[in-house]
Amino acid sequence: MKIQIINGPNLNLLGKREPETYGIQPFGEFFDSLKSRFPEIILSYYQSNVEGELINKLHEVGFEADGIILNAGAYTHTSVAIHDAIAAITTPVVEVHISNVYAREEFRHVSLITAKCAGLITGFGMEGYAMAIGYLIQKKKT
Ligand code: DQA
Repeated sequence: MKIQIINGPNLNLLGKREPETYGIQPFGEFFDSLKSRFPEIILSYYQSNVEGELINKLHEVGFEADGIILNAGAYTHTSVAIHDAIAAITTPVVEVHISNVYAREEFRHVSLITAKCAGLITGFGMEGYAMAIGYLIQKKKT
């Protein structure tokens, strides 16, 4: 089973960026722990700060992966183009946010992508990515 994680803008700075909100662990380190927790899954990780590159990645994997876990960062709140890309592909997409976006500024309460995703996980820290994998494994079985 193939699952692609896609992280959007500023998420390359996890570990350094606003640690009170996003924690102190770099994503690469967390990704290694995810791979050992789910050895049966072919897990891939992609990050870009560029909207079009995120869309290209969705197109590239969105007809062959079994699941996509997308943290679109701030593009979540602005991007009609990412909404359209998720609508265009056939692989189910789980929207993940590390922080609880509903406990933060009002502009983060709007997501342009949730409606096209299988579901939304927000506020459980990095563990949200593991929860999304759990969902995708379960979904594949049914
Ligand atoms: C985020 C929440 C977004 O509002 C923010 O712009 C991010 C990270 C999260 O993971 O909590 O960059 O997606």
